Amino acid sequence: MKKLILITGLLGSSLFAQTNEKIEVPYVPFPVKMGKGFEAVQANCLMCHSFGYILNQGRQSKKFWRGKVDKMIKHFKAPIDEKSAKIITNYLFEQYGNGKKQ
Ligand code: HEC
Repeated sequence: MKKLILITGLLGSSLFAQTNEKIEVPYVPFPVKMGKGFEAVQANCLMCHSFGYILNQGRQSKKFWRGKVDKMIKHFKAPIDEKSAKIITNYLFEQYGNGKKQ
């Protein structure tokens, strides 16, 4: 019985310590660029992961972005038709491209 009291006492104190600390969550503005085709990204890309996953790649070539869209379709079974894939690739290249086709 003594042991049980000791354990509950320990648990209680550690919980208390946590609530005593001041936790601040920094506000991070999401740099989503609006543009032609953004709705296609919203409708086809953001049901599995956030936009951050895409932005993390930095500025890339058109071929790179097309490759990522294809990877999502082939490997992760994203239900994206060819028309949307083209619109999305163009959007990504226009907003997050490095100017190179290849
Ligand atoms: C069916 C779910 C699904 C959809 C829809 C989807 N993705 Fe992904 N995506 C994933 C998964 C799962 C990963 C994580 C792979 C990993 O962690 O290695 C990922 C990772 C990524 C990455 C990180 C780099 C990489 O190669 O893993 C990029 C960029 C990306 N997705 C872009 C897109 C774009 C653009 C679209 C829309 C055309 C899209 N995704 C739609 C599932 C999806």
